[in-house]
Amino acid sequence: MTKYSIAVDIGASSGRLILGYLKNGLLKLEEINRFDNKIVKKGESYCWEADNLFQEIKKGLKKCKELGIRPDSIGIDTWAVDFVLLDENDQPLTEAVSYRDPRTDGMMEEVFQLFSIERLYLETGIQFQKFNTIYQLFSMKRNTPEILDKAKSFLMIPDYFNYLLTGKKANEYTNATSTQLVNAFTKKWDHQLLDVLGINKEMFQEIKTPKTILGTLTEELVSELGFDLQVILPATHDTGSAVIAVPEENETIYISSGTWSLIGVENYFPICVTKALDYNFTNEGGIDYQYRFLKNIMGLWMIQEVKRNFHDEYSFAELVDLASEAKEYRAIVNVNDDRFLKPDHMIDEIQNYCVETEQPIPSTPGEIAKCVFESLAESYQEAVMQIEEIFERRFEKINVIGGGCQNEMLNQLVADVTKKEVNAGPVEATAIGNIVAQLMALDEIQDIKEARTIVKNSFEVKKYLPAAPITN
Ligand SMILES: Nc1ncnc2c1ncn2[C@@H]1O[C@H](COP(=O)(O)OP(=O)(O)OP(=O)(O)O)[C@@H](O)[C@H]1O
Ligand SMILES: [Mg+2]
Repeated sequence: MTKYSIAVDIGASSGRLILGYLKNGLLKLEEINRFDNKIVKKGESYCWEADNLFQEIKKGLKKCKELGIRPDSIGIDTWAVDFVLLDENDQPLTEAVSYRDPRTDGMMEEVFQLFSIERLYLETGIQFQKFNTIYQLFSMKRNTPEILDKAKSFLMIPDYFNYLLTGKKANEYTNATSTQLVNAFTKKWDHQLLDVLGINKEMFQEIKTPKTILGTLTEELVSELGFDLQVILPATHDTGSAVIAVPEENETIYISSGTWSLIGVENYFPICVTKALDYNFTNEGGIDYQYRFLKNIMGLWMIQEVKRNFHDEYSFAELVDLASEAKEYRAIVNVNDDRFLKPDHMIDEIQNYCVETEQPIPSTPGEIAKCVFESLAESYQEAVMQIEEIFERRFEKINVIGGGCQNEMLNQLVADVTKKEVNAGPVEATAIGNIVAQLMALDEIQDIKEARTIVKNSFEVKKYLPAAPITN
């Protein structure tokens, strides 16, 4: 009997429920529900609309029923680092505050007074980003200790949705590592670190790994939906799921290209050497205890904001076309500068950067988009060089996955600047990685190796070769 699994994949800009199943050895996908996701200001804080997102999950499940589909399982992945705290009655204590909220400003420096950078990196292997969960919790400890004191359960966003589905609390491993509070070697919550920071360690749940069958739906949900299914943990950190769907595992650097660009390689052990710390690479936990050695780059968030600043007058595809037409223009911004994390107006911020650095100021939509894409490509190239330096080897190919792999101009730019073959696809890598983890838990797919072969045979990947050097 064919097994049907539903991937709930919620990125920072959009979410989707995708049904996946195997047919004649190929993975088939059907989109069930798609919805926007965005940060909204509630009071003084920038938040996610977690309750609305959960309603969208339920809406998708109801649609399955209408379509006559009876799914066997569901798995949820989302962006990382953000969380919900529950009180003693299992009620959320706050809104789901976004990592882009400025509450973490200055918190890294305060944490480093208690726990040195070197030790933190050596123990967790995680990249230093001001919005990591550790700094979010520390800001609560500093500024709203009365709320933190009431917290009885710490659940990351997918853990929270899983709790709403099943009534069971657990912290999934791949996402837990993004907190910078999990020891990279023991793979458990770092109690010593939590004690030093004065954060209550009792609220953290048992860490469970991808492919764990968490349970079935609560009775209320079964009666609301009219059916039950198994809730399975995929790699609940979306990047963790996306990387499972990289068709080529060897010789390849991946770029998971969505709101963020995550560039790196898979590894069997964490690399916490000084050079990796200096270059700010992370060792996030993956499926089967693999590590994703990668770097977070600001990513297509910048073009999302540019698009928003133009009141959505242009689609992403149109912005790419306009950028390709702006041939004469060139300026490069440092995409990883914190000023681009949540500026009031992205276009102004890019233009101001160009003024300050005495570069030509982009004015047309095409010039602004070209500046973003060329700056991203430069930043990828820098990361590629750092990876090759750390690994002391050359990687021959780059595999771009996620929504951003539809950006043909950026794909070609990456091939040109890195002088490597670029393979683009699959677009829905995250949902695919999520589904194959469920199918592994259901014994439909044996292991990652088989999963990757299935992905390779099932989805088209487009190849870009570096432009030949111009000779006179
Ligand atoms: N037709 C298109 N042409 C070019 N780029 C596109 C196209 N469609 C989407 N994109 C790019 O894909 C990005 C969204 O990618 P994706 O859907 O993977 O992100 P996400 O899942 O919402 O975010 P996250 O990175 O948090 O997972 C957009 O910001 C846009 O730049
Ligand atoms: Mg995504």
